[in-house]
Parts: sequence; C-alpha cells; structure tokens
Amino acid sequence: MKSRHRIQFPSKDVRELPQDEAYFYLIDEARNKTKIRLHEYERIYQIPGLYEQVVYERLQCQSPATVTRILNLALAQSNQALNELRVLDLGAGNGMAGEELKKHGVSRLIGVDIIPEARAATERDRPGVYDDYYVRDLCSISDDEREEIATWSPDCLISVAALGFGDIPPQAFLEAFNIIATHGWVAFNIKETFLDRSDDSGFSKLIRELIFSEYLDLYQLQRYRHRFSLEGEPLYYFALGGKKNGDVSPSFIETLHLPK
Ligand SMILES: C[S@@+](CC[C@H](N)C(=O)[O-])C[C@H]1O[C@@H](n2cnc3c(N)ncnc32)[C@H](O)[C@@H]1O
Repeated sequence: MKSRHRIQFPSKDVRELPQDEAYFYLIDEARNKTKIRLHEYERIYQIPGLYEQVVYERLQCQSPATVTRILNLALAQSNQALNELRVLDLGAGNGMAGEELKKHGVSRLIGVDIIPEARAATERDRPGVYDDYYVRDLCSISDDEREEIATWSPDCLISVAALGFGDIPPQAFLEAFNIIATHGWVAFNIKETFLDRSDDSGFSKLIRELIFSEYLDLYQLQRYRHRFSLEGEPLYYFALGGKKNGDVSPSFIETLHLPK
C-alpha cells in the first residue's frame, strides 16, 4: 500500500526563499514537526513515498513525462525509436524519470546519482527499472569508473530536474555528455532563466554555449510548467532534445571559466 504522509507548507510570509532553500514540514503521529528542505534528497528518499507526495502530487511536477515526450519528438525526426536506445539517466534520484522512460520501452537504462540514498530508494520502490545504477560524483570519477559506465555503450543522456541550483554542476554534465556515443541523443530540462543572458551562473553559460555549439544539434526546445512553487506559482522550465555531434573539447570547457 502507498505510504501517506502529513505534510505542511510554511506560511506565505516565510516562503519567499530561493528555489533550493524551499522547505516543508513533515508531521509525525505524535504531531512533531520536522523541517525538511526540498533539496535534502538524502533525507526525503529514506521515507517511502514522501518525494512522490510532495513533488509529484502537491507540486504537480510534470518533467519526467515532458522530457520523455521531447526526446521522442526529437527521435521521430530521425526515424529512431526510444526502444533502440541505451540511456544514461544523470541525477536519477529515486527513479521517477527512469520509470517514465521504461513505460515507453528502452533497450538499456543506467542510473547515476551522487547519493547512495537515491539508489537505495530506487531499489526499494522501483526495483528492476534500471539495468544498473551507479552512485558516483561525475566531477571526480576515476578512469576505471568512467570505463565501467561506458561499457554499457550509452547512446542517450537524459537528466530530469537535476541540473543547476546546487544539484548537478556543469563539469558533471559534460562528463556524462562525453561518455555517451558520438551522435547519441540528449534530453534534459533547465529553468527558463538559464537561457537568459542576464543569468551568468556556470550552468547557464554552459547551456547557452552548448546549444549553439558544434557539439550539439538542437531538435526540440519547449517551455512548459515544470511544477508549482510552494507559494503555488508556476515554475517554467525549458525541455531540450538534441543530438550530440562530438565530445566537448577541453578548450571549450576552458572558455566557460567554470569554478574548479
Ligand atoms: C530533483 S532530483 C531529480 C530526480 C529525478 N531525476 C526525478 O526526475 O525525479 C535531483 C537529483 O540529482 C542528484 N544530484 C545532485 N547533484 C548531483 C551530482 N553532482 N551528480 C549526480 N547526481 C546529482 C540528487 O541527488 C537528486 O537525486
């Protein structure tokens, strides 16, 4: 049976927090309140059903379905099918995006996340969705660890609700981008301000440079409502789908002046 939790959002006047500091309360049977930040994934994933209830039911996140649709639309332009692909899911979390992809059928699905709680939650709640699931920090993987992931010969990279905002840094994204095959497919989502020149965060710069570079051919770009904020405001993101043209070179990475 699905676990139900008593959750409470903070009152309106204390809610004006940056997206990565937003929090809610979890109330236990003795009415004790525990404050949990939306980005404290290691705590959230340990409680079965909590992530799904807060992010998918209350905040109505629609990103796994949207990114999957964008990927399918991109593939359709090349007469390729999802079920032929060997997909690397970066920032796989407890498997929500993987589960969505699996509904459409993929040849292989490999998860990567930085925290062991994500893999444990996936094994607990979505066993069998991934062919393999690695707990790795792609900012500092060894040659052997890279090789281990590469032996799956992934030819598609997806990353859903995981890029920027203190989550996956540009270096880790580029590492994953370079692991997938040349002419592999790429689909991910980013907050709409990441395409705005006034945003000069590392991720924002990377995405703007990448989508106009020779390394990626852009096939699909769609603005959509990712989810609601705790205040009930719609949060708009872009979903992107494209085809890789080659590994990103060290000189391109240098031009981004990313923090070490
Ligand atoms: C909002 S969750 C999204 C999970 C899942 N993709 C989904 O759609 O529900 C973001 C995930 O990114 C992971 N993450 C954050 N930084 C990471 C990094 N450097 N490398 C890999 N995963 C990372 C977090 O642990 C978390 O599981």
